[in-house]
Amino acid sequence: MKHDLPRLLAERKPGYALERPFYTDPAIFEADLETIWYRDWLFAIPACELEKPGSFVTHKVGAYRVILVRGQDGTIRAFHNSCRHRGSIICKGAKGNLPKLVCPYHQWTYELDGRLLWARDMGPDFDASAHGLKPVHCRELEGLVYICLADAAPDFDAFADLARPYLAVHDLTDAKVAFESTIVENGNWKLVWENNRECYHCGGNHPGLCRSFTDDPTVTGIKEGAAPPHLQAHFDRMEAQGYPAQFRMSSDFQYRLARMPLLPGASSFTMDLKPAVTRILGRVRDDTAGTLLKYHYPTTWNHFLPDHSILFRITPLTATTTEVTTKWLVHKEAVEGRDYDLTRLTEVWTVTNDEDRRVVEDNQQGIDSPAYEPGPYSPVHETGVMGFVDWYCNTMTGRLASVALAAE
Ligand code: FES
Ligand SMILES: [Fe+2]
Repeated sequence: MKHDLPRLLAERKPGYALERPFYTDPAIFEADLETIWYRDWLFAIPACELEKPGSFVTHKVGAYRVILVRGQDGTIRAFHNSCRHRGSIICKGAKGNLPKLVCPYHQWTYELDGRLLWARDMGPDFDASAHGLKPVHCRELEGLVYICLADAAPDFDAFADLARPYLAVHDLTDAKVAFESTIVENGNWKLVWENNRECYHCGGNHPGLCRSFTDDPTVTGIKEGAAPPHLQAHFDRMEAQGYPAQFRMSSDFQYRLARMPLLPGASSFTMDLKPAVTRILGRVRDDTAGTLLKYHYPTTWNHFLPDHSILFRITPLTATTTEVTTKWLVHKEAVEGRDYDLTRLTEVWTVTNDEDRRVVEDNQQGIDSPAYEPGPYSPVHETGVMGFVDWYCNTMTGRLASVALAAE
């Protein structure tokens, strides 16, 4: 490695942006993949995307290719997209429906649960049961599908138990994807997160979003147990109606949940501030409920509104490129043109995503200069960014130390 990563981590200045190599160095990008992306739980897709048995989607994270498929029993499973014969990828398309998973090379044929069903002329000693598709850890949480590429996955239950009641009232298993967009931002994945974790930039960059979303730092960045009275009153009013709302964050900052108010008069992320969908998704019957904010590092942030939900997923591509996929979920029986207008539904976040892409790319270009020197985060507006950077640095430091210990 060109840079001594443990030393760079040890020497970083808390409360400041990271040194340039964290955002530019391909070797540190590789270490990010190995240490975080190949070891943590990653949000993959909404379960509703796999409508029926045989529905599949493919996903790529770093060097790994994954198939997510719904089995005949209705269960969603994930497998490495690599044939157990000579390793060909099995599913080539981004999504589709297949009765069986058939390798295009020599037609080894797998059941939707990964068992090898058929392999031609492999001789009498061939044991098909030892050549099923390699599973990837896969968990479905209230209509959200998470995967983990590690051999031994870290705990998922603490997060799942906390998030379940917040998500349950949004009935995501009754959803359909009304629209999805994928953009590539020319910025390191950590810059995408740093930008997402503050609204210091919102007033200057997001005129459309700022019609409905507040840049009040007490909404975008508060600590657990530190809600100011106006927010606590909102949480209490929501919880009294059965909509979990309290601000909750894991002690290592990896995930956070809170049902936050939108600006007065706004009930959804639309330019006219009115709901985008008349056939609502979920059981939140209060137009002033605001948005359930959820983030979970390293992959996803989300908005769950009274009428629809929006899922964001980031995937690192290279040291300086990151894919951002956005999916707008509406009730599966909502009809475009009758219950929602696709432009009204998607325009605020389509524009906001592009504005965020631009600021992330500007940030990356400035950091690429040798003159770049990490500057201080705002203690008022950027506590969320500090939380992300602390989570990243602490996770990297701890895991690199345990790898070094194991190697001794
Ligand atoms: S590589 Fe898949 S059948 Fe040969
Ligand atoms: Fe933004």
